[in-house]
Amino acid sequence: MLSCAKMIGIRSPFIYFIDPVRAEIVMEFIEGKNAKEMMTHDLAYRIGRYAGLLHSNNIIHGDLTTSNFIVGKKLVLLDFGLAFHSVRNEDKAVDVKLIKTILKSAYSSAYERTFNGFLKGYSKMVSAKEVGRILKNVYDIERRGRYARIV
Ligand SMILES: Nc1ncnc2c1ncn2[C@@H]1O[C@H](COP(=O)(O)OP(=O)(O)OP(=O)(O)O)[C@@H](O)[C@H]1O
Ligand SMILES: [Mg+2]
Repeated sequence: MLSCAKMIGIRSPFIYFIDPVRAEIVMEFIEGKNAKEMMTHDLAYRIGRYAGLLHSNNIIHGDLTTSNFIVGKKLVLLDFGLAFHSVRNEDKAVDVKLIKTILKSAYSSAYERTFNGFLKGYSKMVSAKEVGRILKNVYDIERRGRYARIV
């Protein structure tokens, strides 16, 4: 999934070595600051662009949290351990719902600005019609309270 992400233009760590016996992956160490330490409207926009790029290629990250982004020379996305392929808007909505919840809880005073930034970036990569459907799904998840039970 790290390689799939790279192929569509998302910077992610290079894999150097995989040891299936010891269940180890040796990868590039990314220098930079964790996005969770420095959230801004502009950074949320860039995170939104990455999320939209993944989703427009039917890749679900599965753990789309601010701590899985490192801001170095470029924005780098980590932690593809839960990633999978899916065309379902519901799966895309779960990614969006997670980052929305994190922006709301961790940066409450800047929540509207940062989530708007995220949506602006996301909408650069996903058609307005699709964004509308995915956000409707986010709303449905929130209304059902299903997400709260999973957590
Ligand atoms: N290639 C890397 N280069 C630099 N730092 C990394 C790299 N991979 C992971 N990290 C750091 O280690 C943290 C945890 O890694 P990762 O997210 O892959 O594991 P995790 O088990 O899912 O942890 P978490 O539950 O915190 O997300 C990241 O948030 C990041 O700060
Ligand atoms: Mg992680």
